[in-house]
Amino acid sequence: MKKLFGVIGDPISHSMSPAMHNDLFGFYGIDAAYLPFHVSKENLEAAVKGLKALEASGFNVTIPHKTDIMAYLDKIDPLAEAIGAVNTVKNENGFLTGYNTDGPGFVKGLETIDADLGSRSALIIGAGGASRAIFFSMAQAGISRIDLYNRTYDKAEELIRSCPFNVESKVLNRETAEKTLNEYQLVIQTTSIGMVPDTGSLPLSPENISQDAIVSDIIYNPLQTTFLKAASKRGAAIQNGIEMFVFQGALAFEKWTGIFPDTERMKTNVLRNLGG
Ligand code: ATR
Repeated sequence: MKKLFGVIGDPISHSMSPAMHNDLFGFYGIDAAYLPFHVSKENLEAAVKGLKALEASGFNVTIPHKTDIMAYLDKIDPLAEAIGAVNTVKNENGFLTGYNTDGPGFVKGLETIDADLGSRSALIIGAGGASRAIFFSMAQAGISRIDLYNRTYDKAEELIRSCPFNVESKVLNRETAEKTLNEYQLVIQTTSIGMVPDTGSLPLSPENISQDAIVSDIIYNPLQTTFLKAASKRGAAIQNGIEMFVFQGALAFEKWTGIFPDTERMKTNVLRNLGG
């Protein structure tokens, strides 16, 4: 029987996950379909029960359900528990397990630029949900120094306090972050600053970015934010948000099928979807 997969969210119509996963199912000869499901907040519990009743094999979870979904699952993977967000669910005979592949996907994406990230000191800009997934996953992956800059200082402090993994961290104010930017070999931009339509704005001045740094921006619309363009001009290696999206999907696909898929193929599919 054809296996059912999907993604639940609100809004959902622009999700690139269905095209990406359906292409993979075809490529690997797996009889499965992956559909977008529009689920409003008040229908989340009913939707999870429905997917279970339909014996869906697994599904992704996107905004705004990544935290609320946890109440309706049978088991949560420890990393997802620490992050406080689930983006991937696997159904084994009616037993639902929740995972977070966003953070680990981000790390895997970065490893395509440098397979040995551990020796780099990192600065993360932002302290929201995406930052939390990335921070915890980088700490778990063994990156030993991760500092944070966020508009709201207290949120960055709270994020560091709640990290269960061993890591050296401090919160920087904007002035210090801008002044000491050249001390970081990894700079990660996790806020929405620079995203369409407000593409001109910068999260902080890129003036002191080191030419030895990798600079990553999780935005992929536009493909190169003003921040990334400035980093590239200074000689840094840059990465946009496509890798994080592709690798979170690849890790989800692996959880469901046991196959770690061809990420170059996925990337081509996503770029085609974006018209780039
Ligand atoms: P996500 O899940 O995408 O991370 P989020 O949890 O709402 O979204 O977090 C958004 C992050 O972007 C926060 O770090 C937020 O800063 P605050 O903690 O100060 O709110 C940051 N952010 C969003 N818009 C911003 C802006 N205009 N200027 C500075 N920071 C901004």
